[in-house]
Order: sequence, then structure tokens, then C-alpha cells
Amino acid sequence: MRLSSVLSAAAGLLVVLLYVSPVETGKCPRVCSCDNSKLTVACMGKNLTEVPPTVDEITVKLDLRNNDLQVLPRGAFLHTPYLTHLNLQRCNIMKVKEGAFRTLGRLVSLNLAYNNIEILYQESFDGLSSLKELHLDHNRVEEIQPGAFTQLGFLNMLALTHNQLVYIPNMAFQGLQNIKWLRLSHNSLNNLATEAFAGLFTLNRLSLDHNELQFFPTQTMTRLPEVTRLDMSYNPMTYLGEESVSMAKLTHLYLDHMSLQDLSDMALSQAPLLSYLDLSHNQLRYLEPLSGPKELASLNLTGNRIYCNCYMRPLREWSRRGGVKLLGACAGPAHLSDEPLQAVAPLELRCRSREETLKEEFEEQDGSREPAPPTAKPKKKVKCPDNCDCDVEAQHATCEGRGHTKVPRGFPPKTQLLDLRSNHFHYLPASSFPGADQVVSLHLEFCKIHEIEGGAFRGMKKLFYLYLSDNDLTSLDPAAFAGAPDLTYLHLEGNRLAQFPGSALAPLPGLFALHLERNVISKLEPTGLLSSAAPKLRGLYLTNNTVTAIAKGAFNSAYLDTLHLDSNQLTEVPTDALTEASSLEELNLSRNSIRWVGPKAFQPVSQSLRRLYMDETGMEKMSRDSLAGVGAGLKTLTVGGNQLEQLPDLSPLTGLEVIDLRGNPLLCDCPLLPLRRWMENVSLEVTATCGHPPELRGQSVRDVHVFKSCPDSSSPPGEKPATPPKAPKTNKPKPPVLKASGVQARPVKAKAKPSKPTKTKPQKKPKAPAVTKQNKKTM
Ligand SMILES: *[C@@H]1O[C@H](CO)[C@@H](O)[C@H](O)[C@H]1NC(C)=O
Ligand SMILES: *[C@@H]1O[C@H](CO)[C@@H](O)[C@H](O)[C@H]1NC(C)=O
Ligand SMILES: *[C@@H]1O[C@H](CO)[C@@H](O)[C@H](O)[C@H]1NC(C)=O
Ligand SMILES: *[C@@H]1O[C@H](CO)[C@@H](O)[C@H](O)[C@H]1NC(C)=O
Ligand SMILES: *[C@@H]1O[C@H](CO)[C@@H](O)[C@H](O)[C@H]1NC(C)=O
Repeated sequence: MRLSSVLSAAAGLLVVLLYVSPVETGKCPRVCSCDNSKLTVACMGKNLTEVPPTVDEITVKLDLRNNDLQVLPRGAFLHTPYLTHLNLQRCNIMKVKEGAFRTLGRLVSLNLAYNNIEILYQESFDGLSSLKELHLDHNRVEEIQPGAFTQLGFLNMLALTHNQLVYIPNMAFQGLQNIKWLRLSHNSLNNLATEAFAGLFTLNRLSLDHNELQFFPTQTMTRLPEVTRLDMSYNPMTYLGEESVSMAKLTHLYLDHMSLQDLSDMALSQAPLLSYLDLSHNQLRYLEPLSGPKELASLNLTGNRIYCNCYMRPLREWSRRGGVKLLGACAGPAHLSDEPLQAVAPLELRCRSREETLKEEFEEQDGSREPAPPTAKPKKKVKCPDNCDCDVEAQHATCEGRGHTKVPRGFPPKTQLLDLRSNHFHYLPASSFPGADQVVSLHLEFCKIHEIEGGAFRGMKKLFYLYLSDNDLTSLDPAAFAGAPDLTYLHLEGNRLAQFPGSALAPLPGLFALHLERNVISKLEPTGLLSSAAPKLRGLYLTNNTVTAIAKGAFNSAYLDTLHLDSNQLTEVPTDALTEASSLEELNLSRNSIRWVGPKAFQPVSQSLRRLYMDETGMEKMSRDSLAGVGAGLKTLTVGGNQLEQLPDLSPLTGLEVIDLRGNPLLCDCPLLPLRRWMENVSLEVTATCGHPPELRGQSVRDVHVFKSCPDSSSPPGEKPATPPKAPKTNKPKPPVLKASGVQARPVKAKAKPSKPTKTKPQKKPKAPAVTKQNKKTM
């Protein structure tokens, strides 16, 4: 080639590089179609086995549906950092390697539906810091590893429907700080850990329909303060007892297509805002008026076999008075059959003599009643130890409370959940679970176990959750858990352990949550306790032990994020123990005897701390700078039920979402002015009540006028207020102060005799409603 042409070619290239806008440089992989103006690339159904490497860097929408990618390797989208939408539906993906999406910080929507993903790894979704929607439905997900979603702080909607989840572990969804809708329908869930949904403070809609839940997960649900809509349809529940649903903001509850035979009139007493309740297609014969929901507008009883006699009259009267629309029809007696409930006048709901009624009901059922549907799907039975039940399809086996004295053997080889609680094993010898190598979750609560021989769980290479709660363990063999290397959640609460079982944890490199509540541990030593025993532990629960001493640096660990030390015997904030606990987000120190909190008490964790609980510690004083360093990151602070007259400087806590100051005898005078000003400034509702001086006792800090006369009331926040003109803070012992001065106590629960989950037999007459009780109710 001649020099001149080389030069002109080079010059031409230069022109292209310099002047052509990026859109026009767009390269398009051969099999794809590209729209350069919309920056979209579509390569659907091309049998691609890898992400085309030549997709233009500036692409924002990439559609790879219906290909054959199989594995998404680390950095699979390195070359397209500007993507906002990525569709990977039906790509035969089995595995998403950690870091696969790491470069996609702008991605808003990710669709991974209809693939074959089984496990969500800890870092599968790393880097997706803007993601709003994640579709993982129609996969085979059976395991969510701890921390799988921690990076998805902006996610609004997570779809995990049509997967194979059996159990949701504690904190499974940790990190989803903006989640609004969580969809878990169409799985095989039969158990939800109490803290399964912990941390989902923004969730307002939860779908759990089409699962295998046999009981309403009351405790788990109370962790969801903002949920307004809960769908539990199509779960095999037979009974709903008193206070089953305790959800302050719930408005819509779907309990249709279950197997409900009875529902306590108090079942919804803790769901005050409920407006729509769907009980259609259950097996209810009658229903009492429901206590609690004052706003109920609609109660759907379609598809139940409601027997319209006098026992239904209170409900009908209640619905009329309260304007509750009843949907559904009478199934009998004959003359009211198929009559819409709403159209039946209360007086038409009559009972004749007892005998007549019984006879009539009997005839009614004889003629028209179909056999009661079974409460759970019949499952085919195969190999299963005596006195146990094995559900091969659901991969569960249970021998709960069957009086076994030795661990039964011979479970189906694919069993994943093994429930042996409430037996009498006393002692677990080595290799107690041969052939149980697929078990993920093992229940051994209430088994009177006092000793576990080294290697007891040997061979359980998939064991992830182990429940040894409420046994009689006083110590643990260092090799107790050897051979179960995947153990991640370990429950040892309710034993008699006197020491932190450090050496026994050594074989468990992945331990994530350790429950040691209700033991008798009094010392946490030595320095570096955690970093040597359980270096990756995130949650340590030591509630209700006898801890008095914690070594300096005991919690040195960059992973620990939740530490419960409540109900112990600490006399001060264990500041020194927290050095290097640089990720600690939740600290519970309630119910210790910490009378004084000194300066900078939380300094080591001030940057990470999100939730701090210090209720009922007998606290009399917090230094003004006790919270020094803690800033906008703190979301929750509770110091209720203490003896505080003044509070530390709260003005840096601009991110607070929950604050509890109740039950403190606050001294309503000028030193409290910064609090008062701060209260006016923050958007959250603050309940604070004066305890002193006597004439203001019981009044809200917000309402009293004493602050008007304080000098310098315009001084900028954070500045020390001028010396108050009177009532300087004394250090004399305080006069006894009524704890109740901040009356905001929860209403005392009306605990009637617990009604048992009775299965109403078809021929059984519905129990007569207690008329006097009905009359007392406010409707
Ligand atoms: C994809 O591969 C299958 C089987 O290998 C073949 O039948 C099909 O025609 C291919 N489709 C395309 C679009 O290449
Ligand atoms: C009541 O339940 C039935 C059966 O589930 C359903 O078809 C109907 O739409 C429900 N009615 C209302 C108003 O929700
Ligand atoms: C601590 O545990 C004991 C024994 O399990 C129990 O009786 C007690 O009520 C618990 N205390 C607290 C404060 O939870
Ligand atoms: C903190 O501890 C107190 C006292 O044991 C308990 O009532 C409360 O539920 C705990 N809070 C959290 C979030 O753990
Ligand atoms: C009130 O809010 C303003 C604006 O956010 C802030 O600058 C100021 O420090 C706040 N005052 C107090 C007392 O928190």
C-alpha cells in the first residue's frame, strides 16, 4: 500500500473517531437486531450459548430471551455497563456465578424467569445497586443463601413465585430496604422462620398463596410493620386461633381456598385496619362476629357451607350494624338454601328445638353434603421409618412427638426437611443420621438431649439449619458439628450452656446466625472471641443469659451485624467489646442494668449502627455526647421505660424512623428545649411525656408551653442551650417516679381461655355463641 493511501486511511479513521457520535458507531452482533436510536439490542431465540461479546457498550436494553446460556459467569456483562433492562428469560440458566452482574450499576429491571436456577448465592446479585425489579419466578430455587439480596437496596419488587422453596430462613431478605412487594406464591413453603422477613420495613404487599403452610405464621408476620395486603390463599390451614393475625396496618387479607373449619372471633383482634377479608371456599359452617377490625367493609364467605340458623344471627346483626357487606349464600336449612347471606333478615335466622335442629342438619348433610375434602393433598407413601411420616414429593419427613428414644433410620434418600422434635433422645452418638445427606433442615427441639458425641451429624453435607433448642446441653464437644460443614443457622437457645461454645464452632466456617438465648453464659471471653470461633457470623443472639463481663474486642468481626445482649446483667454499654465490629447494625441492650451511658459509648459502631434498643435498663442518665459519632444512619432508637429526665443530643439523628422515649420522667424545662425543637423538625411521631415538674406530669412534651420562656430559644440546634433559669439538673437520688408517667402502654390483651384448634366434625352442632360476650362487644 502506498504511503499516501495509508495516510489518508489513517486520517479517515481519525475523522471517524473524532466526529462520529457514539450512536452511529453502533456495532451489532450478527444474529441480533439493533435499534441504534433507542439503544436496544434484541437477540431472541438464537441458541446463543454466551452473551454476545460485541454488543455495543452504550446499549441500554438487551433482550436475550430463549437462548441457551446455561451458566452466567462472573463479569458476564462487563462490556455493557449502561444497561437498564436485561431480559434473560428461558435461557436454560442453571447457575448465576457470584459477580455475574457486578458491572451493571444502572440496571433497573432484570428478568431471569423460566430458567433452572437452584441456589441464590451470596453474591449472585452483587453490583445491582439500582435494580428495582427482579424476576426469578419459574425456576427451581430451593435455597437462598444468607446475604443473597444484601446489595439490592433499591429493589421494589422481587418475584420468587413457582420455585421450590420449603423454608424461609431468618433474615433471608436482608438488605431489601425499599422492597414494596415480595412474591412467594406457588412454592412448597411449610415453615417460615420467625425473623424470615426481618428488616423489610417498607414491604406493603406479601404473596404467600399456594404454599403448604398449616398454621398462620403469627410471629413472623408481626415483623412486617407496613404490610397492608397479605395473600395466604391456597394453604392447608384448618384453624385460626385468637390473635393469629397481629398486623397493625393490614387492610386486605386473603384466606380463601384453605381448609378452615373454625375461626376464633378474636383471630383478627390485632388487625384493626382490616377492611377486606376473603374467607371464600373454606369449610366454615358458621362464624361469630369478628372483634378487632373496625373498618371491615367486606367479608367474603362464598363457597362455605354456612348453615343459616340462629347461631348466625349475631354475625348477621353485627354485619348490618357495622355496614359489613357479607358475600356468600346459605347452604341450609332447606328454606334458606342458596339465599344470599346479605338478603337474609336476622329474624329469619331461627333455631327450633335442639332435636329438630339436629335432625334437620343431619338430613341436610345426608342429602347434599359432599365428603369433607382432606386438609392436605394426599401424598404417595414410600420407604419411611416406623412411627414417622414421609412426604416424598415435598421431601419432608416428620416423627415429631412420637416417643422415639433413638434417632429413627431409613428416611427417603431425598429428604430435605427432617423433623424429629419432641422425642426423648437424651444422647446423640456419632453418625446419628446415616443416609441423611440431602437434609437441609433438621429439627431436634425438645428432645432432652444432654450430650452430643463428636461427629453426630457426620455425613450431613447439606445441613444448613440445625435446631437444638430447648434441650439440656451444658457443654458441647469440640467435634459436635464436625462433618456438617455447610451449617449456617444454628439454634442452641434454651439449653444450659455456661460458656460460649467457641471450639465447637470451629468446623463451621460459614456459620451465619447463632442462637444462644436462654442459656446461662456469664462471660464472653477472650479478646477476639468471634474472629477465632465464628469469623463470618452475622447474627449473635444472647438474650436472656447472665452475661456480666465481655472481654475487650470480643466481637472483633467485620461481619457481625446483629447482636442481641438484652436481658442480661450488664452494668455498662460494652463499648470496648465492639471495637472493630465495623458492620454492626442492630444492638439490643434492653433489660440490663445500665444506669448510666457515658460519652462516646457507641463510637466503635457509630458508622454502621442502624437500630439501637435500650429499653428498661433502669437508665438514669445518658451523657450529652453518649451518641457521639452516630448520625443519619440510625433508624431506630428506643430508650423506653427508663428513668431519664434529660436526653442526649439527638439533632444529628436525621434519619430516625422510630424513636421510643415513652415511660421516662422527662424534666420539662429549658434543658429539654433541644429535644422539643428537634421533635418539631422531624417527620416521625414522637411520644414523650413530662415527669417533672409535678404540675406538668403526664403532659406531652409537645403540648407544654414552658419552653416559650426559655432564653435563647432561637439558638441553632446542637449548640448547648443557655443555663436554665431554674431547676438545674441535680445529681441527688431521684424521688421515686411513676413508671407509668409516659402512659402509652399497649392495651392489655384480653386473654380469654385459649380455644383449642378443634376440627369441627360435619355432624357436630356449631357451638352456641356466648350471648353475653357478644353484647359486651363494641361493634
Ligand atoms: C437451535 O438448536 C436446535 C437443536 O440444536 C435446532 O433444532 C434449532 O433449529 C436451532 N434454532 C436456531 C434458531 O438456530
Ligand atoms: C368472593 O369470593 C369468590 C370466590 O372466591 C370470588 O369469585 C368473588 O370475586 C369474591 N367477591 C368479592 C367481592 O371479592
Ligand atoms: C429467661 O428465661 C427463663 C427460663 O427460660 C424464663 O423463665 C424467663 O422468663 C426469661 N426471661 C426473660 C426476660 O425473657
Ligand atoms: C430487644 O430486647 C427486648 C428485651 O428482651 C425485647 O423485648 C425486644 O423485642 C428486643 N428487640 C429486638 C428488635 O430484638
Ligand atoms: C431542622 O431541620 C433543618 C433542615 O433539615 C436542619 O438544618 C436543622 O439542623 C434541624 N434542627 C434540629 C433542631 O434538628
